[in-house]
Amino acid sequence: MRLTVVGAGYVGLVSACCLAEMGNQVCLLEHNPARLQALQQGRVPIYEPGLEALLQQVLNRQLQVTGNVSLALNEPELILVAVGTPSQADGNVDLSQLWQLAEAVQEHLRHPTVLVLKSTVAVGTGDALQAWFEQRAIPVQVVNNPEFLKEGAALEDFRRPQRILIGAEDAAAAAIVERLYVPFTRNQARVLHMRRREAEFSKYAANAFLASRISFMNELAELAEHVQVDIEAVRQGIGSDQRIGRHFIYAGCGYGGSCFPKDLRALSHLGRSQGLPLPLLSAIEQRNERQKQRLIDKLEALLGSHWYGKRVALWGLAFKPDTDDIREAPALVLLRALLARGATVQAHDPAAMPAVAERFPEAVASGQLQLCNEPYAALENAHALCLLTEWKLFREPDWLRVMQLLAEPRVLDGRNQYDPGQLATMGFVYLGIGRGGLASERRNRAAA
Ligand SMILES: NC(=O)c1ccc[n+]([C@@H]2O[C@H](COP(=O)([O-])OP(=O)(O)OC[C@H]3O[C@@H](n4cnc5c(N)ncnc54)[C@H](O)[C@@H]3O)[C@@H](O)[C@H]2O)c1
Repeated sequence: MRLTVVGAGYVGLVSACCLAEMGNQVCLLEHNPARLQALQQGRVPIYEPGLEALLQQVLNRQLQVTGNVSLALNEPELILVAVGTPSQADGNVDLSQLWQLAEAVQEHLRHPTVLVLKSTVAVGTGDALQAWFEQRAIPVQVVNNPEFLKEGAALEDFRRPQRILIGAEDAAAAAIVERLYVPFTRNQARVLHMRRREAEFSKYAANAFLASRISFMNELAELAEHVQVDIEAVRQGIGSDQRIGRHFIYAGCGYGGSCFPKDLRALSHLGRSQGLPLPLLSAIEQRNERQKQRLIDKLEALLGSHWYGKRVALWGLAFKPDTDDIREAPALVLLRALLARGATVQAHDPAAMPAVAERFPEAVASGQLQLCNEPYAALENAHALCLLTEWKLFREPDWLRVMQLLAEPRVLDGRNQYDPGQLATMGFVYLGIGRGGLASERRNRAAA
């Protein structure tokens, strides 16, 4: 098929490359000059495993990358929209990028087409956009086709989707979108047809549900600390129940990223706009905010409340492993608190350091924030080590080396990656999330 993808972010770039890989003729439209230039030279401006190799494989063959709107929107059979839909101050979705695109479509489109919304948009957006095109007699059918890929595993998720949702009011348009996915659904993926607003709602419901699992476990983790229970034992205890499953039940620093926080806010906003109190959604968000703050409380428990002149090592800055995305990353909450209270921060993250340097230029320039090129360099003379993103690289550290490098053997394990008993035996002061004291004592006794 001949298609245009608008927006070369995490979703648009992955979609464009994977669709081009399947032999489609893809035009990728991006208006950010730096992103555009990098892509045209075969460089991926974001970190996503495998993506740069795929880009170089398809670039200037099945994939053209352009900033030329009229070229991109002239006569594609399909337009896939992957522009950003960030939060507004009141929690509602900011759809300005989408409406700007609609204006451009009005100006440049010369043939009937199907406009596929992959961006996460407020419930009712597709209907409003359809009405807008119809009022102007522009031959566009709007379909909602929410994207479920995960950063860090985006290629795999796109190539082997678990399900494809097609939200459409027009059967012919839905059939065209289904045809696009035939190469990806041969194995097992289910294609589910529904109305446009049901697909829009499903995307929010999926993210809110996953976020609720995280907040649920984080809430129980705090309780576990008061009653000498290790939440890790509980996680295993409940995760083996197939009705519950093993995913998204890890206690940790709270969820972040470009989707869960903003999508939860959007769903809550939708409730408010309908005059409906949705206390469960509010609780998920409140718990998540509290969880990020708890990192600060825990570090105070390790270091005392005066951080001026202290040196703290951070392992991990991205909101999750295998991405450079720091949007709403829990690590940033602790980082900001450390900088505000006069601590020196030595940090390492395999992918997110350029984004952090861009976000905190003054701290980097003054030397208060030192971005270290390998994990152990971040430990030198630090008064504590905080693990904030569970990159594989941090999973099995050389603890003797860690002990030698740190000024004080203190570990805040924000992702419950380490064995409290082992660390206690080695002489570390360890704090995890929800790891009630009895558990580590029990392990110590078992080891003795
Ligand atoms: N990031 C994820 O993991 C993920 C997963 C599922 C769904 N989503 C949703 O997908 C959408 C995109 O997310 P993202 O993380 O890829 O966003 P992003 O902000 O990384 O990328 C959006 C890109 O679109 C470009 N853009 C915006 N308007 C444009 C226009 N008119 N012409 C050309 N380029 C334009 C921007 O310059 C930017 O490069 C959002 O709605 C998001 O909620 C994201």
